[in-house]
Amino acid sequence: MLLRQGIDAIVLEQRDEAYVRARVRAGVLEQTTVDVLDQLGLADRLYAEALRHDGFYLRFDRSTHKLDFHADTGRNAWVYGQAEVVADLIDDLKKRDRPVVFEAADVSVDGYLTGRPEVAYTDGEGRRRVIEADFVAGCDGFHGVCRATVADRIATAERSYPFAWLGILAHSTPVTAEGMYTAHPDGLAVHSMRGPHITRQYLQVPADTDLDAWSDERIWAELRRRSAADDWPELETGEVFEKSLAPLRSLVSEPMRVGSLFLLGDAAHIVPPTGAKGLNLAVSDACVFSHAVGGFYATGRKDLLDAYSDTALDRVWQAQAFSWNLTSMLHRFDDDGFDWPLRRARLQRLVDCDDDRRAIGHVYLGLPFPTAWRYE
Ligand code: PHB
Repeated sequence: MLLRQGIDAIVLEQRDEAYVRARVRAGVLEQTTVDVLDQLGLADRLYAEALRHDGFYLRFDRSTHKLDFHADTGRNAWVYGQAEVVADLIDDLKKRDRPVVFEAADVSVDGYLTGRPEVAYTDGEGRRRVIEADFVAGCDGFHGVCRATVADRIATAERSYPFAWLGILAHSTPVTAEGMYTAHPDGLAVHSMRGPHITRQYLQVPADTDLDAWSDERIWAELRRRSAADDWPELETGEVFEKSLAPLRSLVSEPMRVGSLFLLGDAAHIVPPTGAKGLNLAVSDACVFSHAVGGFYATGRKDLLDAYSDTALDRVWQAQAFSWNLTSMLHRFDDDGFDWPLRRARLQRLVDCDDDRRAIGHVYLGLPFPTAWRYE
């Protein structure tokens, strides 16, 4: 986004290129995110390879319901692995002669309060290098250098959950044409996909789960048990080729800017995976940031930079509200007799009430950007 506005930018990455290209993450892109990639001229491979979905399936009480948000909004969700988006960005930067600097070690950020920020790092050959910049975009995640650098100057609101998602990638054919959330009294099962014969599936498990205690057989048995339905064939099993455990967390840090250091994406906020907002929110922050920086270089105006945190946070909190709505409806929270009937009532309402479904679909497919937030 910056390079396209004629603003020079250097991307530092701690890991090596092969690692980054292969790193498995979520894979549901909002229409809004796809529109941004399209405007950047970066959606060709996405349009050729991604799966275009109208919404998702919701299953509970052994019945299956399709929530068709496309019919309500004319928009879509797109299934395209996060690693593919990253690969497209890496390739584009290479083409533009600004390749990502991989294996940047011992990164430090200084001078961000003086208006003359410097980023120092050790390159792959062991040489210490310093970049003098006007702005630093901290896109390095929750455990990254940038967040740690300003930890004393930001305040964090946080909610943690007593459960995690056990995720698998498997060679099996999806049973539904689009992703499916199954709410079961014992917890959530997610049936998603990466292609016609690759499924991505998740199980809600206790936070202290030991991954070694979950054999492939046990995972398939639990996925099948929770997902059993009277109106649909059983899940197809297959070879599991990736297995992981991800804790759930909701977190927002404010402000998202300290001096000339800006926090973007997971460096500033985390959403639970329910509803798949994480990557989309990072793209949202990047749009707000590059628009603000673009405005500064184009006219000298600083108001957009000053508004960065508040502008980005409006959208972050909308996504938190959406993720909380889905998370609290789909997961088992309690053993009491209230948990399941309450969740089931909320799920039934989504199936029965057009307005409630539309409200969910509107955010799921991505709140549109006001034109003023575009990166151009
Ligand atoms: C995924 O396909 O990885 C996925 C699907 C739905 C979610 C999260 C992740 O809510």
